[in-house]
Amino acid sequence: MSSIIAPSILSADMRYFEDQINQAIDAGADWIHVDVMDGSFVPNITYGPNIVQTVRKITHLPIDVHLMIEKPERHIQTFIEAGANTITVHYETCPHIQRTLTSIREMGATPSVVINPGTPVSMLQELVHDFEMVLLMTVNPGFGGQAFISGAVDKIRRMKSLLDESGSKAMIQVDGGIDSTTINACYQAGARNFVAGSAIFNHKDGIAAGVQALRDALE
Ligand code: DX5
Ligand code: ZN
Repeated sequence: MSSIIAPSILSADMRYFEDQINQAIDAGADWIHVDVMDGSFVPNITYGPNIVQTVRKITHLPIDVHLMIEKPERHIQTFIEAGANTITVHYETCPHIQRTLTSIREMGATPSVVINPGTPVSMLQELVHDFEMVLLMTVNPGFGGQAFISGAVDKIRRMKSLLDESGSKAMIQVDGGIDSTTINACYQAGARNFVAGSAIFNHKDGIAAGVQALRDALE
């Protein structure tokens, strides 16, 4: 599989949660992305480990947990026990990021690090062998439906060079404003894992059409 599409349940209609996730899966979603927000690191508040347990009851697909919370190390184990396969922590929230990434690996999940639009890729230079995925935020985190920051494409390219130069095989994920008009530029720059919320769950022709439009735009 050359590209992963990871629907963000942040944009799902919670009245029809299970049905909406199944529609995305039936249309070919690869992972399920869960945005955890604490109202402190980011202005918005979402949900905790119980939603991961719920998603795990719905699907065996990988669950990708994006922790937008202060002191994420306090909660990593609980999210893994709830069913998370990948844990993504913000560089900006972890003073001891190398230790945090190592502990994610030791607890049996895939370690992943994310940087905000304002954080340079060079901050990850000493860490390239400590993560298997790196998420580059293509909006400022906190809300779905924001506009893609176009300067992010060049940042993806620079991240790809840093990984190649260090011999890292880590996958580049992008998150925020990914839709059929922005996804291919990210792919061309080196991203292979695409989080999308509103482009999937708010697509005018429905969820399946939203997933398909992203796939079509990649080809
Ligand atoms: C934003 C979240 C995203 C969000 C993306 O802080 O991390 O995962 O759901 O939503 P869209 O795809 O609508 O920009
Ligand atoms: Zn996210």
